[in-house]
Amino acid sequence: MVTRADPSRTVRDVSTARSSLLDMRVHVADHPLIAHKLTTLRDQRTDSATFRRLAEELVTLLAYEATREVRTEPYEVTTPVAPAVGVRLSQPRPLVVPILRAGLGMLEGMVRLMPTAEVGFLGMVRDEKTLMATTYADRLPEDLSDRQVYVLDPMLATGGTLIATIELLLARGAHDVTAICLLAAPEGIAALEATFGTRDVAVTVVTAGLDEKLNEKGYIVPGLGDAGDRLYGVV
Ligand code: URA
Repeated sequence: MVTRADPSRTVRDVSTARSSLLDMRVHVADHPLIAHKLTTLRDQRTDSATFRRLAEELVTLLAYEATREVRTEPYEVTTPVAPAVGVRLSQPRPLVVPILRAGLGMLEGMVRLMPTAEVGFLGMVRDEKTLMATTYADRLPEDLSDRQVYVLDPMLATGGTLIATIELLLARGAHDVTAICLLAAPEGIAALEATFGTRDVAVTVVTAGLDEKLNEKGYIVPGLGDAGDRLYGVV
């Protein structure tokens, strides 16, 4: 299921990326501040320092939406006036997983909203010819039983990296997985739906924008270019 409050605000209508049979949740955020920051990120004149700051701000806004179903438990405090029953995040703590390298640029924005989350790291690299993703670093708990996991990956392009990551997390017992992306392509959404949409797993994508397509090099069009390069420069 794809949700968006006002489809006219984004680059591409969502209907062609939606499958009526599948109910993997995709949320395209609709908020003027998100659209404003995303537009500046897209602009090729935006320098790395500004790009990093805006990416963090954008992720904090997306995180607000992405954590809507984070698990909490009742928690009693005493105000200066009277006892009050509120909530606090449940144990086990949510796990935030930035996918190296570009996902690192999203981490600060995420933990700013959820400072008590645990952070694990996953290094994935995409072969530019085959577009296949392979793991080169794995700093995650072995046992993710009952954990809610938030994956940070700026660009959902072919979906290869995200699918490999989510498979790994589910294989370790993750309870549900939410991917937070700055931008997504319909091809990537379709690949995730084809992989997870018919399985009994809770997978959600929250993105600031759903663009038109991928080009022949696997870049999102119009996109914002190579997110890692925009964040950290070309290496
Ligand atoms: N990765 C990027 O950094 N940008 C794209 O457009 C696609 C994948």
